[in-house]
Amino acid sequence: MWPSLEWKRDKLILIDQRLLPAEEVYLECRTGEEVAQAIETLVIRGAPAIGIAAAYGVVLAVRGIRDKPLLQERFEWIVNRLRQTRPTARNLFWALERMVATLRKLAPLAPEEIVQGLEEVACSLEKEDITRNKKIGEYGASLIPASSTVLTHCNAGALATAGYGTALGVIRTAFAQGKIKRVYATETRPVLQGARLTCWELAKEGIPVTLITDNMAGWLMSQGKISLVITGADRIARNGDTANKIGTYSLAVLAQAHHLPFYVAAPLSTFDFNLGSGQEIPIEERSPLEVREVRGQPITLADIPVENPAFDVTPATYITAIISDRGLAYPPYEETLAQWSKQETKR
Ligand code: MRU
Repeated sequence: MWPSLEWKRDKLILIDQRLLPAEEVYLECRTGEEVAQAIETLVIRGAPAIGIAAAYGVVLAVRGIRDKPLLQERFEWIVNRLRQTRPTARNLFWALERMVATLRKLAPLAPEEIVQGLEEVACSLEKEDITRNKKIGEYGASLIPASSTVLTHCNAGALATAGYGTALGVIRTAFAQGKIKRVYATETRPVLQGARLTCWELAKEGIPVTLITDNMAGWLMSQGKISLVITGADRIARNGDTANKIGTYSLAVLAQAHHLPFYVAAPLSTFDFNLGSGQEIPIEERSPLEVREVRGQPITLADIPVENPAFDVTPATYITAIISDRGLAYPPYEETLAQWSKQETKR
């Protein structure tokens, strides 16, 4: 498995996901600001990985500060800065909320102890994410029949998390159980996370993977080549509406039209229990250059107007089941998600 990040106390090491699979380059972040920029520019991406990186970014920003008012000031600054990086992934805000709650609890202590406490929480978020992903893998694999050909979108693997992955975690577990014949990975324009990252991860592990362009999915489904679809999530509302990488919604509609199961896999840190429906989920709009160019090469007119929403929302009616570290939820989702929310607040 290839960790998306490695904590070294005075720095956070990130594999530069923009360069994969051509180059394996590791980038060192020594300040909170460097972590914020790494998140904005997609050096690190994927909802759970963003949240964990942000928590470490907070630690880097306050490390070595021995003056309490200054520590408080720097803490508030970095939390606000990191909040501005990417608006859709719930995990980012969830992780920052954990850091804010920790600071509040440790406020009476000496600055050194506060920083140590913040670091311990950031490390525990990383460990916890892997445990959650393994549980998702177990629950999700129970839904996968023998000899399945599975379509996945974007990258919801080890690179998008602390390790193991959510949608790819289910695929990893099901593959180990001998149930996966082949994975179809969509290339995932505009940033090509499927072609570059999912194919890289699966091929390294010897899981059979075939790459398709995003517009091929419907045809393959009509030809009986796909048994089911599984994706990750960036934010899930109380009613099960799910934001994930742009193109997920189209795949869910196609899956329903072809009577194929469409599953969403995500840890509880991706659920936003404050939101009643997906209409309230903020959708990140990214630079037009991502659409006008492929890997830095222009593919259209330099000034052509483009739209570039990084995510879309799949209404819950298209989702066959949601797989979390708490188990499986089936429609209507409200009741099960409310139970998960209560269990999560009790933790
Ligand atoms: O823009 P990205 O690459 O951060 O988008 C990532 C996705 O949409 C993933 O599917 C999602 O974050 C789940 S990752 C476990």
